[in-house]
Amino acid sequence: MKGRLQFLVAKIILLALASSFVSCYDPSPLQDYCVAGVQDINGVFVNGRFCKDPKLVTSNDFFASGLNIPGNTSNRLGSFINPVDIPGLNTLGVSIARIDFAPGGQIPPHIHPRASEILLVIKGKLSVGFVSSNDYNYTLFSKILYPGDVFVFPIGLVQFHANVGKTNAVVIGAVGSQNPGLIAVGDAVFGSNPSIDPKILAKAFALDINTVKYLRTVFFPEDDIVNE
Ligand SMILES: *[C@@H]1O[C@H](CO)[C@@H](O)[C@H](O)[C@H]1NC(C)=O
Ligand SMILES: *[C@@H]1O[C@H](CO)[C@@H](O)[C@H](O)[C@H]1NC(C)=O
Repeated sequence: MKGRLQFLVAKIILLALASSFVSCYDPSPLQDYCVAGVQDINGVFVNGRFCKDPKLVTSNDFFASGLNIPGNTSNRLGSFINPVDIPGLNTLGVSIARIDFAPGGQIPPHIHPRASEILLVIKGKLSVGFVSSNDYNYTLFSKILYPGDVFVFPIGLVQFHANVGKTNAVVIGAVGSQNPGLIAVGDAVFGSNPSIDPKILAKAFALDINTVKYLRTVFFPEDDIVNE
């Protein structure tokens, strides 16, 4: 009886897998772990990174602390990202960060080119969202989040997080990549080095040239490149 039930469950799972047309991927390491270390004679390189000798790996290689400590949000955007540095997460395809927000603070529209993100609110009230690509008509998906709420951001889409409460806000963001990458839209477009021709940006974003030049100073204040 038990065997038949197991067979039935297995069959249902197989059918479910076979009938949904999804493409999935996940990192598939060829070893238990590859703790990032300094090169020594007993280690090996995996995917271009040096793995500490497995015999010398300790619990501390998989450990970090400090995410209880608030970041300094005294900056233009009123936010601070504190990514955790854990040698043992090398090649495992995950990472995590604490993000602090002052009242009114935000992480502006940005893209993680290499990872989806899952965000957990610890404190405060946030407005978060992402926009689908042209394939799905640039649809905005957004939500007001409170402590204990979780929101998911698909890989490669423009997303934002903003503190809309009266207090500081704290969230934990986890991503499905060791190195998710960050493309802040404003920085990439108006703060590139060297800059994109302001005439091109003015036409692209329906702005006058002086506004483009002003945005250049906002997104790349150290700029010493003169564009006429
Ligand atoms: C926070 O950052 C600001 C600007 O960089 C700096 O002036 C201030 O001293 C910092 N505050 C703390 C507590 O580190
Ligand atoms: C996007 O818009 C097109 C044209 O109006 C429509 O046919 C399609 O169903 C929409 N797709 C989504 C995901 O909203």
